[in-house]
Amino acid sequence: MSTVTLKMDKRYENSLLDSSAQDVIGKPLDRIDGPRKVSGRATYAAEYGFDDVTYGFLVRAPFGCGTIEGFDVEAAKAMPGVIDVLVDLDTFIRNAQQGGEEKSPTQGVKEVAYFGEPVAIVIAESYEAARAGSGAVVVRYTEKPGNYTFEDRLDEGEVPKGGDAPPMYKQGNIDKAMAKADVTVDEVWTTPSQNSAAMEPHASTATWDGDGNLTLYGSLQMPASDKSQLADALGLKEDQVRIVSRFVGGGFGSKLGISPESVAAALASKAIGRPVKTVMTRQQVFDATVRRSNTHQRIRLGATADGKLTAVGHETHVTNLEGEEFFEPTGVSTHFMYAGKNRKITHEIVRTNLVVSGSMRAPGEAVGMLALEGAMDELAEKLGIDPIELRKINDPAVDPEKDVPYSTRQLSACLDEGAKAFGWEQRNPTPGARREGEWLIGHGMASASRTNKLQQSEARVSLTPSGTAIVETSMTDIGTGTYTILAQIAGEILGLPIDKVDVRLGDTDSPPGAGSGGSWGAGSSGTSVYLAAEAVRKQIAKAMRVSADDMTLKDGLAIAENRSVPLSELAGTGMEATGTVKPGKAEKKTTQASYGAHFCEVGVNATTGEVRVRRWHSTFAAGRILNEKTARSQCIGGITFGIGAALTEELIHDERNGKIVNRDLAEYHVPVNADIPDLEVVFLPERDEWSNPLHAKGIGELGISGAGAAVINAIYNATGVRIRDYPATLDKLLEGLPPV
Ligand code: MOS
Repeated sequence: MSTVTLKMDKRYENSLLDSSAQDVIGKPLDRIDGPRKVSGRATYAAEYGFDDVTYGFLVRAPFGCGTIEGFDVEAAKAMPGVIDVLVDLDTFIRNAQQGGEEKSPTQGVKEVAYFGEPVAIVIAESYEAARAGSGAVVVRYTEKPGNYTFEDRLDEGEVPKGGDAPPMYKQGNIDKAMAKADVTVDEVWTTPSQNSAAMEPHASTATWDGDGNLTLYGSLQMPASDKSQLADALGLKEDQVRIVSRFVGGGFGSKLGISPESVAAALASKAIGRPVKTVMTRQQVFDATVRRSNTHQRIRLGATADGKLTAVGHETHVTNLEGEEFFEPTGVSTHFMYAGKNRKITHEIVRTNLVVSGSMRAPGEAVGMLALEGAMDELAEKLGIDPIELRKINDPAVDPEKDVPYSTRQLSACLDEGAKAFGWEQRNPTPGARREGEWLIGHGMASASRTNKLQQSEARVSLTPSGTAIVETSMTDIGTGTYTILAQIAGEILGLPIDKVDVRLGDTDSPPGAGSGGSWGAGSSGTSVYLAAEAVRKQIAKAMRVSADDMTLKDGLAIAENRSVPLSELAGTGMEATGTVKPGKAEKKTTQASYGAHFCEVGVNATTGEVRVRRWHSTFAAGRILNEKTARSQCIGGITFGIGAALTEELIHDERNGKIVNRDLAEYHVPVNADIPDLEVVFLPERDEWSNPLHAKGIGELGISGAGAAVINAIYNATGVRIRDYPATLDKLLEGLPPV
């Protein structure tokens, strides 16, 4: 057993993935968990069976802001099948989550901060009985005036405390630079609240053993930190909590941290001494799990007549509950996307009584680039410069704020290659100039960028006596392909086909993995597997009595000095190692991000204003691609999110009480298959030696970043209507359409 730790302080030059012989890295392999999923054998949080299981159903506040005075629970308790009603005000937790890194405070819900906040739980012998019982619980309360809108209160913005990038950044003098610039853009973009809308609703099944230890089967992205949050909320020691999250039906940020049903299920199970299963309804998911903040973004760009940016301003107001530190960091990529000496990138939080806002699908870039990339299109038009050219003119050699090099950056290459593949030169730059029958046709583009991050991660790799491998880490696969790429990494380094690698994820009894979030999953958990597998490889070399460098591992054989020995003969009673990767100075010495370019063709109906995305191309550069198929799927999913953000996705809050009006998938519109044409995705070859030993960068959230702006830029090219208030629903287009 050996333990290896790598702190990523410097460039990691020689990756074993380049010198190994198995040749499974990068291949478009099918997901190894696919057959289990399509045959119903992948067990999700609500599917763990227990003989004596009971069902919990959340009771929620029927008002937007105020104080709970008490509950009438007798009628509910008298109903058939109802076991108990828990109204313990001090122990519920608000689903605060800040990227999963900070512990959630235990918060009572005597003071209700948003409509639909969970305040009690009914426990019953069946789901139906629990749900019926919840309807019989009477919540007594005093309502207070709340804040349900924010654009009329921008002057109340608070400066945030935390964040990865500085929330308030100033360089040079943007006001002077704007005054002196030959051409300027100064406009406001707004984006609405959104919901992650993962397919699997939030669910928890809780059981306790006789010694007061909790096991929670949950639908969670980051079990290692979720375990701390849950222990903290319940007043337990961390080693008293085990979280199991083997399969997760999407999270998109809403499952980074625990949500209220987990704590409620745990308390309920403890109270009655039986397992409790609590599954949120779709409406509860919308009402009471994190939303993406609505935003108000002022962008200022100033340039010389030949297109050189001199001023870059991005001032954002977002919303969150009182006391919550998370803010949507819309300016995160504005910091390093384009050149320009005078810069101002700020974020302020306006307090509202709307459900807590947190991370969702590329927090920051996803909505920040909707504004920035729209503004770049407007600037290009004013300058009379092609929008691709404008971006290339302002593609900086080093980070314009930190003055450090980019680890790798192929933005201009993505723009050029993408333009060629899409046929950009055939675009007519004059808006409203192309028509096919009743459809106005337009073309738009936008840059893509998502910061690359490394998260501490640990994994164990074992070689069994029969010469197969086991990979264990509490990392999750939320539909992204983690099971498969970790099998590829271990298989590549140990010389095993991936069906000889057993990957076991999503259990906090395993070494603490990075979890799935921030597009760091593959790089971070993959590196921990790489390090552990490399250590096992050295143990194999020792058993072969050669140095690891002189040995080839392929198809279950160790080959050196004209000997070829099956791993089963070398493994003895088994070999084992753990690997841990930690972020280090590398992320300070370089600015790390994945890049891309999106190209979109829309048709806008000249009579109804209906927008159809007709054609799409994106070229990306994200370091080494670990699996061409799962990476492509990630990007296609991300682009689809971007099209949704551009055209349909919008949570509507009732201005009288903050209640979410469209709280189901019939009324909250995410794109469906019929909305999405073939999305063409191309990856440029790249290795990023600063990112991690895999030389891979994050890709999960790259596809969404910038995508929606390509759509509205195409709409402008089709119609001459500039959309700055997302989403571009047809009511916003109708008035401005050219005469039929
Ligand atoms: Mo992501 S929003 O970090 O799941």
